[in-house]
Amino acid sequence: MASNWNAHSWRSAEAKHLPTYPDAAKLAAVEETLTRFPPLVFAGEARALKADLANVAAGKGFLLQGGDCAESFAEFHPNNIRDTFRVLLQMAVVLTFAGKQPVVKVGRMAGQFAKPRSSPMETIGGVELPSYLGDNINGIEFTPESRIPDPERMLRAYSQAAATLNLLRAFSTGGYANLRQVHQWTLDHIGKSPWAAKFIETADKIGEALDFMEACGVNPSTVPQLQGTTFYTSHEALLLQYEQAMTRQDSLTGQWYDTSAHMLWIGDRTRFEGSAHVEFLRGVGNPIGMKCGPSLTPDALLRMLDTLNPAREAGRMTLISRFGHDKVEAGLPALVRAVAREGHPVVWSCDPMHGNVIKADNGYKTRPFDRILSEVKGFFAVHRAEGTHAGGIHIEMTGQDVTECTGGAVAITQDSLGDRYHTHCDPRLNAAQSIELAFLLAEALNLERAERKAEAA
Ligand code: PEP
Ligand code: CO
Repeated sequence: MASNWNAHSWRSAEAKHLPTYPDAAKLAAVEETLTRFPPLVFAGEARALKADLANVAAGKGFLLQGGDCAESFAEFHPNNIRDTFRVLLQMAVVLTFAGKQPVVKVGRMAGQFAKPRSSPMETIGGVELPSYLGDNINGIEFTPESRIPDPERMLRAYSQAAATLNLLRAFSTGGYANLRQVHQWTLDHIGKSPWAAKFIETADKIGEALDFMEACGVNPSTVPQLQGTTFYTSHEALLLQYEQAMTRQDSLTGQWYDTSAHMLWIGDRTRFEGSAHVEFLRGVGNPIGMKCGPSLTPDALLRMLDTLNPAREAGRMTLISRFGHDKVEAGLPALVRAVAREGHPVVWSCDPMHGNVIKADNGYKTRPFDRILSEVKGFFAVHRAEGTHAGGIHIEMTGQDVTECTGGAVAITQDSLGDRYHTHCDPRLNAAQSIELAFLLAEALNLERAERKAEAA
């Protein structure tokens, strides 16, 4: 267990991006209430995810992590949960087939509420108010009352996370995630894509593989694994008051776990040395992600890994690079080399979203799809050159047909961004763009696999 750590030791470290609650007594009461609520996940599940990620770190799997930039109380609806889950599963089938390796599925779901903001204040029409910080902290409505941090929002976030997780568990194991059905959704979807011809070939091969297995007697009724799937949850561990209240000691091992999600990550803005967020996460046993942006030096990264994973446990650390399409090939190699040289077993995952935000001429915050793809390609190219495993993808996406990122096969233009722009924070890939990304990732995984085979021969 981490030395000199306890669930509140973060409180004496430097905390950035935490709200100041005007009513301390109310905050204390909410924290006390939360500590008595049931954990959302069980420590054994977090350990299972760690084992799955250890496999990925060893080059034998791929991590698919995705969901909303910010979940919201307003968009809380079973259809939204279902559709995001469904698209993630569709992506996973395509990626599993291409890479011929297990895909570890982790939602940015059931707890992804708190947001670090580039500016603490927001100005609209000459009026300045505190920024929106996520639905578990304050409200998105541009009024002075709504922007006051309210601790009771944590209780609502907990209940929404619990209900979301409950539905995800039901979908994962209750028959909805049946492999044949997931494949059928993809076929239905491809029909609408202008790139159908390109994708149909892969989709047909998957269908043939399923037919072959069926003929051999391998189907969801004979092999239960085909009936369901394992799906994990994750969010940025930003609101430490909430995370601390959800942290419990596992009765089996004595280890502490943050039971608000299976995996927690540290954002690019809170991963500095001496950070309260790093202090908190170093002591919990969950798998931990860390965003790696252009400001991170190789030495700082190594020090961070020594702090967060001194025992060099495989599956503990996932490094999520988010450089931007034009910086990844220059910036990432030094980090990859340093980590490989020191022998840290990590999963390298690519977040092609957060380095590629632009402001459209009409004021909308957007991400051009071609830049997202270009960062993904750059990420794969770096790992190919370094001889390391391109282990995962981390995306902001939704199963809804939103118009938030420009481009893609069903091209969304800057002018159409206003049609269905619903995000509470950053622009997300819609269902079609997410599946398209999966097919393009599949090509890259195929290539990695072919090269490895050639090397082994
Ligand atoms: C995020 O993932 O929503 C986020 C804020 O990312 P980053 O910390 O990489 O900027
Ligand atoms: Co975001």
